[in-house]
Amino acid sequence: MSEKFYVTTPIYYVNDRPHIGHAYTTVLADVLARTHRSLADRTFFLTGTDEHGQKVQNAAEKRGVDPLTHCDETVVRFQELWQRLGITNDYFIRTTQESHKKIVSRIMQDLYDRDEIYKADYTGWYCVGCERFFTEKDLIDGKCPDCSRDVNAITESNYFFRMSKYQDWLIDYIQTHPEFIQPAFRANETLGFLKKPLGDLCISRPKSRLNWGIELPFDPEYVCYVWFDALINYISGVGYGSDEEKFNSWWPASCHLIGKDILTTHTVYWPTMLKAIGLPMPQTIFAHGWWLTGNSKMSKSLGNVVNPMDMIDRAGVDAFRYFLMAEMSPGNDANFSEDGFIARYNSDLANDLGNLLSRVSKLTIRATGGEIPHPGECNDDDAELAAAVNAAIGNMAASLNSYKLDQGINAAMNAVRAGNRYLEKCAPWTLAKNGDTARLHTVLHNAADALCRVAVLLTPVMPEKMAELLAVLGADRAGISGISGLKDLKSVAGFVMKETDPLFPRIVVEEDAAKTGKAPKTEKKAKAEKAPAAKEVPVNVVVTIDEFFKTKLKTAQVLTAEKVDGADKLLKLSIEVGSETRQLVAGVAQFYTPEAIVGKTIVIVANLKPAKIRGIESQGMLLAAKNGDSLKLVTIDGDMPSGIDIG
Ligand code: MSP
Repeated sequence: MSEKFYVTTPIYYVNDRPHIGHAYTTVLADVLARTHRSLADRTFFLTGTDEHGQKVQNAAEKRGVDPLTHCDETVVRFQELWQRLGITNDYFIRTTQESHKKIVSRIMQDLYDRDEIYKADYTGWYCVGCERFFTEKDLIDGKCPDCSRDVNAITESNYFFRMSKYQDWLIDYIQTHPEFIQPAFRANETLGFLKKPLGDLCISRPKSRLNWGIELPFDPEYVCYVWFDALINYISGVGYGSDEEKFNSWWPASCHLIGKDILTTHTVYWPTMLKAIGLPMPQTIFAHGWWLTGNSKMSKSLGNVVNPMDMIDRAGVDAFRYFLMAEMSPGNDANFSEDGFIARYNSDLANDLGNLLSRVSKLTIRATGGEIPHPGECNDDDAELAAAVNAAIGNMAASLNSYKLDQGINAAMNAVRAGNRYLEKCAPWTLAKNGDTARLHTVLHNAADALCRVAVLLTPVMPEKMAELLAVLGADRAGISGISGLKDLKSVAGFVMKETDPLFPRIVVEEDAAKTGKAPKTEKKAKAEKAPAAKEVPVNVVVTIDEFFKTKLKTAQVLTAEKVDGADKLLKLSIEVGSETRQLVAGVAQFYTPEAIVGKTIVIVANLKPAKIRGIESQGMLLAAKNGDSLKLVTIDGDMPSGIDIG
């Protein structure tokens, strides 16, 4: 019988630029959702953005726009990245949408009417960055315990949710439901937190201090605390209070995927809120670890934040998705390095998987012209290969339930390696030479069969590349309905195999790539891009430093990009230059898609006289390096806000 699977990601702060951490959780949720769909489970996948609160209000004020306009402009960063990454969410929720606000408001009124919410005076220490109040004993060296920034003492009247009364119930619930908080050591962390008396939760902010939020229905002087509002997305996003049938068919969620830093809000605030509302608990809250760079935390100030768009540009969407899923064991931290990325790509994808495909396709085309032959009698080698494939299928299912997807992927790659070993051992090239056609056909069939099954298994991780692979095997027309359909696939005999270019061209690290900072190339690209003839640039025009500084170069961030109708070379960009938003028309459309350019920090000539290009005003010019058929934007090495002078 098919099961139900409802998975969520955290809703991301709309202000943030999406980075590898956001991409990781969303790809993980996507792979889980795709795998469950592939197993014919009824699946719902929710993601979205968290759009209220102090940080959004501040950012909008800085830009001189109203907060909703700011959110409308920044939410596209996430939506476009998810599109690029092939994310198959069933719904994208924004906390500023009316349907969500209505439900938050209704829940607050209901809790207030039932005395779950009350008003009181409160003195606390507030961290603007984290948007959280802390008690004196929470502080570490007088600073915010989460981000170590300064905190401000604030006394005010506020509304409180009676969270404390659920403390004993929550401890008992966690202790009696081992699957509730995973991995288990995170459950212990929450239980450790619950050893101290649990206070009530301040769920309001006076409008005098913050007005960008959902107004309390029983007191218009206040707005709702951003976390109280945000957590409710998990139920409002599936119809709570608006479509009971839909809601009942999805709630309780199967899994809330979160990062380890938002454990308390999800494993203490959210369960107690649900208990007060009268709803059942989600089945699992799974906290994954952090992506680090060079074993240290990524941070804007260290300039080591990994931008997913850059990685996709370099290696393709599926290679990036594969790396994220294979490299991190959910629960633990993982380290991102370009060397690590290239090493895994070359060994797993180019060598193991890509090689197996190209060998099987070449050998079959040589032996039969392409048609996969019928197998003859099987021996121990054949049985060993089939066992590795079956182990992979079993492991994938187990890793799905434990959320340790890396283990399922590893088992699939073990089956690929078993396939390569099988070819080495059975040596179909020798069988062909010796005219042992019966055995040759068996070996070719079994290798192709193993590859086909592994490709179906890995489709949720690398949907595009595995579709290509299955097309090369001629399996695309076989109508295999996902992993659940594999048991009905009796044989791949009769499929007609096609010739193929390398599915994952090896990434060649040029010796000086590290020195020049240039992106490594795949073999395909390396061939395509011929080395340019050395060209002497005559430096016969000298400018003084004063003349040079007449040109104002500044950093700018690309907020949105779209193609210009009827002009295939032009992109119309809206860019942020400090507090200003400008429009710029650039001749880069043949080198950058709109999605690839959004989010980049570029360099512009800020004091160029505005000009009309194809009737559209361009307020400045971006800098790029052009070499024959290649064009690369001048970007900033590391993280920098927009509007910074360059010189
Ligand atoms: N808006 C809240 C979540 C509300 S959910 C009701 C929020 N947003 S966030 O954008 O700051 O963070 C979203 C997620 O990104 C968190 O799960 C966080 O753990 C994750 N990550 C942020 N940096 C990360 C890494 N370097 N590595 C992995 N994930 C990390 O918190």
